Amino acid sequence: MGCDSVCLIFVLFLLPCSAMACDRCVHQARAGYSSSSAFSVGACGYGSLALGFSGGYVAAAGSSLHRGGIGCGACFQVRCKNTKICSSGGVKVILTDLNKISDTDLALNRPAYAAMARYGMAKELKKLGIVDVEYKRIPCEHNKNLSIRVEEKSQSPNYLAIKVLYQGGQTDIVAVDVAQVGSSDWQFMSREYGPVWSTNRAPPGPLQLRMVVTGGYDGKWVWSQEEVLPVDWKTGSVYDLRVQITDIAQEGCFTCDAKDW
Ligand SMILES: *[C@@H]1O[C@H](CO)[C@@H](O)[C@H](O)[C@H]1NC(C)=O
Repeated sequence: MGCDSVCLIFVLFLLPCSAMACDRCVHQARAGYSSSSAFSVGACGYGSLALGFSGGYVAAAGSSLHRGGIGCGACFQVRCKNTKICSSGGVKVILTDLNKISDTDLALNRPAYAAMARYGMAKELKKLGIVDVEYKRIPCEHNKNLSIRVEEKSQSPNYLAIKVLYQGGQTDIVAVDVAQVGSSDWQFMSREYGPVWSTNRAPPGPLQLRMVVTGGYDGKWVWSQEEVLPVDWKTGSVYDLRVQITDIAQEGCFTCDAKDW
């Protein structure tokens, strides 16, 4: 096929119109802030890694955005609506947690909340505590390639649990398979929660991975044909897939596209 290390194999198929559709439309909500300790582990399990994403601007959202964990790692632009206090651009945040208290509200960490303010207005904004906001899903931009972290509970050789990190674009990962490098005997992994996938039937390494990524109605395979995990993969280590997902959701909601914000 003439690929060097990584092939992106496009497989278009129809997905049912889901709640995902019109994801990038502007939505109305309220947002408050919570202490950063609330985000230290979080329902997405990123732990302290989360503060390395999106400039450390993280958010907890209700189940409609968290979507049983599929929404972990999705990026949103949020701005508050009080134009005296709030900047028009708002802040770009990454979803790292589930807001268990309210489904309609966003909980931002303090730095993200403050970053919605106009210059010099952060104190005023903080006084308000909870504000009306609008938000929309945006593509994530990471200055790292798509990577996986081998979770501590993995046990070589067969039980492998990985956490997907630095997923770019505006997409969802809906399937992950693992195989020995050079083999076409793919073993599916199951989503344990959020970005964590596992199998107790991992083949011996070195291992390659492939994933099904969707954005709106379309899906495709993202495929690493080269080694991702070495024979002696180690728990706690992060391995680079040497590829990044940059797709933008393809959706049939053109009315959203006209909106500048
Ligand atoms: C991502 O992978 C590509 C392809 O192997 C590589 O050239 C690039 O340096 C990597 N980028 C980062 C940020 O590691």
